[in-house]
Amino acid sequence: MIVETIISSISDDDIVNFAPMGLHISDMDYERVGQSPAGSICLRLYPGSQTYANLLATGQGVVNFTNNVLLFVDTALYSSCPSHTPSLKVCPPSMEQAHTIWEFSVTHVDSSCVPALVEGKIEYCENRGGVTGFCRGQWAVLEAAIAATRWQLLPPAKIIQSWPMWLELVKKTGGTREFEAFMKIGSFLAEKGIMVPGILSGTIKQEL
Ligand SMILES: Cc1cc2nc3c(=O)[nH]c(=O)nc-3n(C[C@H](O)[C@H](O)[C@H](O)COP(=O)(O)O)c2cc1C
Repeated sequence: MIVETIISSISDDDIVNFAPMGLHISDMDYERVGQSPAGSICLRLYPGSQTYANLLATGQGVVNFTNNVLLFVDTALYSSCPSHTPSLKVCPPSMEQAHTIWEFSVTHVDSSCVPALVEGKIEYCENRGGVTGFCRGQWAVLEAAIAATRWQLLPPAKIIQSWPMWLELVKKTGGTREFEAFMKIGSFLAEKGIMVPGILSGTIKQEL
């Protein structure tokens, strides 16, 4: 399965970076996210991301598990650097708000395929508590955020068509954080010339 996480990494000149990436994980490791996973990680990274460049250059990273979708949007679309704390075994720090972190070192990179395959060994795992249940609005924010990161590749009509369904879920089931995150995706798309319904008119209200 693939679990959406935020990866912290660091460049050769010590600049810290955070970006959402899907973690490919076995059913068994998923059951043990907060305990003691089997020991390896697998990411599929498209060329061009800072995360990919950093993992190649410095060979270390941290998988940050969180349900905070605003952090996904801010790091994916607005290059935000959330508050972080030093790691124990690797140079990149972990995200303060992560409920679980896995520090890892890169063991293998296959850049002959796209997306490239990056594998790593888990060096340290910490469960900080705070896992929450499912929220359909969070799912909708993640879907919209992924689409927004691919705005140059996807036909705009595809995003515009899906928008009302995502919006309905966010309005009905999300909290203020999900709503804020979703609006930020809309603003990002508008800046790129993709006008999703209701964003510029400001007519959207949350149903809390
Ligand atoms: C939920 C989510 C999951 C993502 N998963 C991946 C992924 O598995 N691989 C990838 O290359 N990009 C993925 N992306 C896109 C990157 O996060 C995006 O390109 C980001 O801007 C890269 O940032 P960076 O250049 O700072 O590394 C994902 C985006 C989101 C919102």
